Amino acid sequence: MLDHGNRTGPNDGASAHEDEVPIPDFSDGLVDRSIYSDPRIYRRELQRIFARAWNFMCHESQIPNPGDYFTTYIGEDQVIVVRGEDGLVRVLLNTCRHRGNALCRAELGHTKTFVCSYHGWTYGLDGALIGIPGKKDFYRDDVDLGKWGLVPAAQVDHYGGFYFATLDPGAPSLFDYLGDVGRVGIESMLTQGEVVVLDGVQKNVIDCNWKIAVDNLFDWYHVKVSHSSASRVGFLNQRMMMPMSQMVMLGELGHAIGGPMISQEQQAKIDLLSDEERRTLDGLPDAERAARAPVERRPLRPVAAKAAMGPVGVRSTGHPNIFPNLWISTRGMQLSLRLPRGIGQTEVWWFTVMPKSFTAEQRRVARKFITHSFGPAGLLEQDDGENWSQSTLSSRGVASRRYPHNMRMALGQDEVLVDPSGQKRVETRVNEHAQRWTYKCWGEWMRARDWQELLATRSVSPVGRI
Ligand code: FES
Ligand SMILES: [Fe+2]
Repeated sequence: MLDHGNRTGPNDGASAHEDEVPIPDFSDGLVDRSIYSDPRIYRRELQRIFARAWNFMCHESQIPNPGDYFTTYIGEDQVIVVRGEDGLVRVLLNTCRHRGNALCRAELGHTKTFVCSYHGWTYGLDGALIGIPGKKDFYRDDVDLGKWGLVPAAQVDHYGGFYFATLDPGAPSLFDYLGDVGRVGIESMLTQGEVVVLDGVQKNVIDCNWKIAVDNLFDWYHVKVSHSSASRVGFLNQRMMMPMSQMVMLGELGHAIGGPMISQEQQAKIDLLSDEERRTLDGLPDAERAARAPVERRPLRPVAAKAAMGPVGVRSTGHPNIFPNLWISTRGMQLSLRLPRGIGQTEVWWFTVMPKSFTAEQRRVARKFITHSFGPAGLLEQDDGENWSQSTLSSRGVASRRYPHNMRMALGQDEVLVDPSGQKRVETRVNEHAQRWTYKCWGEWMRARDWQELLATRSVSPVGRI
């Protein structure tokens, strides 16, 4: 964190006692349940993962003009993402420097200044303290406003208009942090051109540990059982949701993509089609399209997507997670944050992403589909939330927590292949490779004391048998 009178650095605050927390090893595919229930683990996650990582903030379309702001979190730190008069996007801790009151209570809005509701300290859009009541009469002019501005995040940057921030000045650049796999994830939202995030983020709290809500996004094993009711009413196409062909891409620092894929043969047929031909196919009625299109998945990505996502990435239609907690879902039209709210609670946020070019009718149809999928009113998250809660709850039982979770599916049975482009992937059936990778990397983040140590000790993206 930058020096604004702060007394401790980003990694301080971990007592010797907390340093003794054992971080389990996941190499055998067994997950010790303490990571879902030990408060010491949670405190260390806030310090060593959330305060250190590049956290997703918002999309540029949510704060287009100077004075526009959006409030969100880095771990449990509230932050204001605000566009200044100079057009720059800043991320400021949402805590008044006087007595710590949360300065901005609105979820988003437009303002010229931030005025604290407690005693009235007033800050500019750049976080500078520009006025305090009673400066002369009560403080006797003995206060240096220049020293008491809002605390900025150490680094703020965007990729394709998606803004991220980190509290750690030692973090690598956002571009390097994302790596190939993280960038493929974001590019998957941009294949239809420029996008906008619609007003209104759907938010709900689930009684589960945040990691259970994260590892589930790679879990294509649960769909048939957990979401059987959604299938019965015709909302889910089981064949598409749980195909036998799956692709996994594992990126350094814990990013991953897992789920269905387009085969090389299918992609070769798609490659022969112009953008116009792809659009025509996608516009056909279902039965006619099914007879003529190389893949069932709609829409077909445009020609340019192959260069942007790479020859392997363009064939992935699974779920990317940008470590630690940003899930890109529903054909790149929903973005979810799994925000930690203590060891046993997660606040799930859903952003709605649409191509800017969508007509009002296309937006209406897409919004309806999305609202029915994930979010508080979605058919799918209702099923998931109940299971995640029970998995979390059982990790607190004295006897239950002695027995690790089994995450051994396909362990040691698949091969990571390297494309001539350098992109790596596993092509397989339903598996738990991405979940294991996420926990392995989580362990590396938790053991490393700072970015330097993390970069020196992290696992490289594997090649060969996994
Ligand atoms: S806490 Fe903000 S002005 Fe006192
Ligand atoms: Fe689910």
